[in-house]
Amino acid sequence: MPAPDHSPRVAAVNAGQYFESEPSSPSRRHTVPLALPDLSLALTTDRGVFARDGVDPGTKLLLLEGPVPATSGDLLDLGCGYGPIALTLARRAPEATVWALDVNRRALELTTLNAAACELSNVRAVAGEDVPHDVRFVEIWSNPPIRIGKAALQSLLVTWLDRLAPNGRALLVIHKHLGADSLARWLNDQGYATERLTSRMGYRLIEVHPRPGDATTKEASA
Ligand SMILES: C[S@@+](CC[C@H](N)C(=O)[O-])C[C@H]1O[C@@H](n2cnc3c(N)ncnc32)[C@H](O)[C@@H]1O
Repeated sequence: MPAPDHSPRVAAVNAGQYFESEPSSPSRRHTVPLALPDLSLALTTDRGVFARDGVDPGTKLLLLEGPVPATSGDLLDLGCGYGPIALTLARRAPEATVWALDVNRRALELTTLNAAACELSNVRAVAGEDVPHDVRFVEIWSNPPIRIGKAALQSLLVTWLDRLAPNGRALLVIHKHLGADSLARWLNDQGYATERLTSRMGYRLIEVHPRPGDATTKEASA
């Protein structure tokens, strides 16, 4: 039986699951701050979305210690919630297009609303199936949805990692108690080279590279 998990991630999940497509909890919006050395945003959040009481510490670590994002091309925030990662990328890389994906309709609405409030016109908050098939990402940034279960998470990651551009990379933040190291090993076994960039406060910041030949093979056969 797995040990009980008292991480902030779990405490932040209140009514229902944060990855429901249609949250059942009645809406109650409020604003939370995202303060980073280079930017400060006020983000609207709601019941039924991840980290509704305040930006998740893992997400904040990713944004504080992650690399400078690519300045152009298509970037992906995989599992955007109300948008802290997507909006930070959009502000830091104004020439890039930032795709913000989620299964949770309320999260997508909030990301769209937050992007508009922050005057960021380079954010596209959409469901996965609405990303055009020919888009290849120079970077994927994610605090991934570990709670959907191992098999679903692995499938989700493979789906989107295989849409990295040949020289692209993914930056993932995962708590070690939620399986960061075993997931990195599994990714390596699947052919995605991984590198640990940071380990702090129990979180791992992991850089993931495309499988050799993947994006090019798919582009050639498209
Ligand atoms: C750990 S939360 C991170 C949210 C946000 N990026 C943040 O840092 O606050 C993971 C997000 O992934 C979303 N998610 C779950 N399953 C998904 C899927 N199959 N495709 C896309 N997003 C998914 C959840 O709804 C949730 O918003």
